Amino acid sequence: MNYQWYPGHMTKAKRMMQENISLIDLVIELVDARIPLSSRNPDIDELGKNKARLILLNKSDLADPGENKRWMAYFKDRGFHVLEINAKTGQGIRAIYPKVQEACREKIERDRKRGIKNRPVRAIVVGIPNVGKSTFINSFAGKACAKTGNKPGVTKGKQWIRLNKDLELLDTPGILWPKFESEEVGKRLAMIGSMNDEILQKTELAVELLDYLMEHYKEPLSSRYQIKEINEEGKLTAGEVLALICENRRCYKKGQEPDYEKAAALLIDDFRSGRIGPITLEMCGQEQEDESRK
Ligand code: G4P
Repeated sequence: MNYQWYPGHMTKAKRMMQENISLIDLVIELVDARIPLSSRNPDIDELGKNKARLILLNKSDLADPGENKRWMAYFKDRGFHVLEINAKTGQGIRAIYPKVQEACREKIERDRKRGIKNRPVRAIVVGIPNVGKSTFINSFAGKACAKTGNKPGVTKGKQWIRLNKDLELLDTPGILWPKFESEEVGKRLAMIGSMNDEILQKTELAVELLDYLMEHYKEPLSSRYQIKEINEEGKLTAGEVLALICENRRCYKKGQEPDYEKAAALLIDDFRSGRIGPITLEMCGQEQEDESRK
């Protein structure tokens, strides 16, 4: 499969990030709770070193709640401040203010010692495309959207949203490109819809997704498509399940020929919108095992 990213944008995005990060105290990094590692670009650790760091597991509503908890612990163990949120409904957003204070305690303390009072924490939101950055900024900033651009000490042209007296947010999020370290990472990004669908072979992707779901999420899969045999170990292959979905959902071309591509699109769409259930594609323990094998 072809998982090409648009390389021309990468250099530009990185330059903008470097420029913006120099202005801020706190990096708020959004990751997709369904693939918390594959939706990160590890370069952010280099770009954001010496900054306070907050990771938000976004789209937590679409991910497995047990896995969300494990991933929270995973990032916490690695020194990040972390919260799970749903940027779309605003769930978890209120917990951010106290977390920001906690994450920036050192900076606040340093300012206090130097006699600097009331200098707000400046934060930037970063993440790969489609991870929910704009939705989050809208939801977090809400009506408090007073722009504070072009004032002394603020780089010309930069717009800061003042959330309260203690926190300002750069209104343009930093775009990180996903890092296609392996085909597995590429597949996971494709499954959540984080790349151009036109370049994807949907049927192949759907079969991969079915393979995964049959291993980890049998029950929700079988109940969504009413295919009981999925629960019987080894009875059906992923290809056969796709054929059954095709039949059950009446995906036919002219002349009653099965339309596997349509069934594949339907499955992928159901998965992406959470209709199969809350599903995590990257299991926390599994990833740690992968890491230790490297
Ligand atoms: P970006 O700026 O990082 O590129 O992402 P953006 O905010 O545009 O969000 C991408 C999509 O993800 C949007 O869906 C948005 O509604 C959805 N989204 C963001 N956060 C969450 C979340 O926590 N949970 C869920 N379930 N969805 C989330 P869309 O299909 O492009 O738009 P819409 O149909 O939702 O309006």
